[in-house]
Amino acid sequence: MNDVYGRRFKTLRVSLLHHCNLGCVYCVAGESELKQANVSGKEQQLSGAQLLDIVRRLHAQLDLDTVRLTGGEPLLYPGLVELVKGIRESGISRLKLTTNGFLLERMALPLAKAGMQSINVSLDAIDEEVFVRMSRRHHVDRIIRGIDAALEAGLAVKINSVAMKGLNDSQLLPLTEFAFSRKIPIRFLEIMAMGHLHDQAHRFLLNRDQILEILSSRYTLQPVDRAMAATARYWKTEQGQVIGIIANESEPFCRDCDRLRLDSSGNIYGCLSSNHPIPLQLEESADVWETKLAQALAQKQLVRFTGSDLSMLHIGG
Ligand code: 5AD
Repeated sequence: MNDVYGRRFKTLRVSLLHHCNLGCVYCVAGESELKQANVSGKEQQLSGAQLLDIVRRLHAQLDLDTVRLTGGEPLLYPGLVELVKGIRESGISRLKLTTNGFLLERMALPLAKAGMQSINVSLDAIDEEVFVRMSRRHHVDRIIRGIDAALEAGLAVKINSVAMKGLNDSQLLPLTEFAFSRKIPIRFLEIMAMGHLHDQAHRFLLNRDQILEILSSRYTLQPVDRAMAATARYWKTEQGQVIGIIANESEPFCRDCDRLRLDSSGNIYGCLSSNHPIPLQLEESADVWETKLAQALAQKQLVRFTGSDLSMLHIGG
């Protein structure tokens, strides 16, 4: 299944649940939303067995290359290790996870043993005070211990940092230094117009050139070629360390997007911009799913992300 631009689904991102143990400013607007974000909505949540059935069937129809587990916070999902084993056994070659790292210290080894290969850790500050401002939680040191445990367990680790003007600008260099001290790549994300920031993300936008300017004050950066369907563009320092920027605003990457999203209630979305869930039912035939997948593919934007009322709590990153 291809669209007119040759785009097809090869990467499936599964949002396992839509609650989180942090309350980051881009997902959660204020104190009342914070309570909501931290409460589990188990009633809508599919079981591991149901999710696995859906993933297996999507793999049979799409011949997926990669599955990435997200949330909410995926490490809060009960039965995560079993699910990881099941997905690996279904023949999917690349299995990755995006986490805030808060529970990673104790989960890293079991996940690696179950067949997880690669982990992206979201970390927007190293300085405790800024971390609290960004995430409404204390103890950035827990995340650092989580990253070290993941490296110890043999997982490939990347850091993702959302850059926000006026909030964590001061952290770009310290975060980079931290990543380099662990010899892992770091990627900065331009803020995206999602959830409660739908209409005001521009207020916080630190764009690609501004991010590069800050980083260039310390490092000499050489651009690296962009891989097919990649969200990030990468630069290398003279020491060979890698910095990426996911420049959703300055350099949209819709034209070769290969991602399909599945939320925790069994709805698919062809695009992060889409507020229109397409529900998949296990009792439906492959033909019905084929039609729904075509609808999801038609949701893909031509040029750029246009914003969404859903935050990444709901639709995953
Ligand atoms: N803009 C940019 N990045 C975001 N993330 C979550 N919400 C936003 C947003 N509005 C990040 C998370 C995670 C990744 C999946 O996306 O911090 O690192």
